[in-house]
Amino acid sequence: MIETDKIKKILYGGDYNPEQWPEEVWEEDMRMLKLANIDILTLNVFNWAMLQPDEDTYDFSKLDKIMKLVRDNGFKVFMATSTGAHPAWMARKHPDILRTQANGVRRKYGRRHNACPNSPTYRKYAAALTEKIAMRYADYDNIVAWHVSNEYGGICYCENCEKKFREWLQKKYQTIDAVNHAWNMNFWSHTLYDWEDIVAPSLITEEFENDGLRTTFQGISLDYARFNSDSMLECYKIEKEILTKITPHIPVTTNFMGMFKTLDYQKWSKELDFVGWDNYPEYNDEPAEIAMRHDLMRGLKQGKPFALLEQTPSVNNWHAICKLKRPGVMRLWSYQAVAHGADTVMFFQMRRSLGACEKFHGAVIDHVGHEDTRVFREIEDMGLELQDKMKDLTLGSRMDSKIAILFDWDNWWASEFSAGPSKSINYPKEVKQYYKALYNLHHSVDMISVEDDLSEYQLVIAPLLYMCKEGYDEKIREYVKNGGTFLTTYFSGYVDEHDLVVTGGYPGKLRDILGIWVEEIDALPEEESNSFYYKGKTHPAYLACDLMHLEGAEELCSYNSDFYMGMPVVTKNRYGNGLAYYVGTRTDESFYRDFLQAICEELDIKPVIQAPEGIEATLRKNKNGEFLFLLNHTKEPFLVKMEKDGKNILTGCSYRAGDPIVLKEADVAIIQMIGSEES
Ligand code: GLA
Ligand code: ZN
Repeated sequence: MIETDKIKKILYGGDYNPEQWPEEVWEEDMRMLKLANIDILTLNVFNWAMLQPDEDTYDFSKLDKIMKLVRDNGFKVFMATSTGAHPAWMARKHPDILRTQANGVRRKYGRRHNACPNSPTYRKYAAALTEKIAMRYADYDNIVAWHVSNEYGGICYCENCEKKFREWLQKKYQTIDAVNHAWNMNFWSHTLYDWEDIVAPSLITEEFENDGLRTTFQGISLDYARFNSDSMLECYKIEKEILTKITPHIPVTTNFMGMFKTLDYQKWSKELDFVGWDNYPEYNDEPAEIAMRHDLMRGLKQGKPFALLEQTPSVNNWHAICKLKRPGVMRLWSYQAVAHGADTVMFFQMRRSLGACEKFHGAVIDHVGHEDTRVFREIEDMGLELQDKMKDLTLGSRMDSKIAILFDWDNWWASEFSAGPSKSINYPKEVKQYYKALYNLHHSVDMISVEDDLSEYQLVIAPLLYMCKEGYDEKIREYVKNGGTFLTTYFSGYVDEHDLVVTGGYPGKLRDILGIWVEEIDALPEEESNSFYYKGKTHPAYLACDLMHLEGAEELCSYNSDFYMGMPVVTKNRYGNGLAYYVGTRTDESFYRDFLQAICEELDIKPVIQAPEGIEATLRKNKNGEFLFLLNHTKEPFLVKMEKDGKNILTGCSYRAGDPIVLKEADVAIIQMIGSEES
């Protein structure tokens, strides 16, 4: 992570683009940013055109001035490499850097994140620029971290990528026969004879649009998704290696985007010194959903703190509806990030742009140009609070979760590429049902990958585990045998990592662990549902209904109607010393809550607090003790009864066990538990 030991506070600031403004305003910027209690600036995110006006000329004169200005004014820097958007001359002279879209159209110069990740020209110039920047500013001791490129993303389908895809496949499969087998190419007479027969799967080959990208050959599309993610990762690694070589003492990262489908962040995060991400919820995203994204980002480094690198202070420009964050919500969402593991609070951007598509994006300094604005005041107050109240108290703290939810990018790609059983199958949505129930019950949850160890968890939930990778069934089997509790759902265990069906009955290799055999799956249209009883309540069965037989498991619920009335829908199996639950359909929130509550009670997993829904609660621990975060996302005041003695570090108020603590709308309390610090 960033050397928070030296910095001793939650870094506060964000993207600053003074090169887009006349120099006359720079001094005023410095005054206002200091007034806002900002201490870190992300610089040089999109400056390639300025830094390299042609093939042979580099011009650092303006960036030198900016670096000096910022250092002289005492700011720390997240230094970016500017390779997220290439200059126009490069596209004009070297069209190989331009991406080709899924529809086969080669793009012209425009937008950003626009370079083909496999273009040798792009890689050469990106590396050269990175090296020059690193050499030039290596001695700036206010650089806290390198920020490589910006928000990698997108997919390229150019011929260059196609060539590289063949090489990537050769390395992975060695023989063309192995490729034919992995992709099941004797279907529709697709047998490939030669590596040259392989083309990028796109809208002019195997893929088609049907409310999202679908494909006739899941195997090839899946490998292309992996290859594209790897190609961009290669670009990142080229820059990272240069930076680490020149400044081994400065950590390197890039900004992630939460649940972002195109890049396998679990694979990427291994190459990052710490994880950082940009949090831009839609105005109507549920707090639980935002919390889940934070937990996913924290999970990428097995629970280590992450950096909140961007959020808007007030409003976005790129959502369909750019609703203002209500008073207090910027603070509330900033602390929500901290509550889930963030050790920085940062914004995009410091000064609102003059033109182009981000001119109406929120900023610390608005177009009016002075500090007398609601947004500025909120930012200033928050900055002061971080400086005077939070200090370094929570830095480096970890969470202690007994529950894990599995999230796997390959499974995301594969389950949604699948033709059938329903195009409404949505992996993140399924994961969210389980996450949200636990969130509402105030349980701490880790979002883990298939590589993470399970032994520390009492409950592991793997919703919609359509793809069960080689060996993962064994990992679950061992975990359950040794006393763990596992839960999975409909559409699980169907395929291996090539998207080839595991024959012998669904859910494939998970069958013995779950003690069931799923014979068929009935997809229901939106207007139809089945139902089942659980603890005296009726719950709907939507989307997909498994028709299953018990093979040792116990039936907990059965369908109420249709030709499979009476067949089990929710089951529980004793396996070794543990338990394996199966939920054979999508149902409603109240079921997930009641069901997970019952499981947690049975396993004696304690929530962070005992309180009704509406308040968010997390617990972070470090040598300074245990910090209970309470966040009120509702419009009403909320009362929580303290379970132990503690002190609210934001207000200084002390509480005894049993005392009520009242949080107003959008308010936050951070309670340091008395006696919890390490002696
Ligand atoms: C992203 C980018 C920024 C900016 C913001 C606007 O997160 O990284 O450069 O475009 O979005 O919300
Ligand atoms: Zn390409």
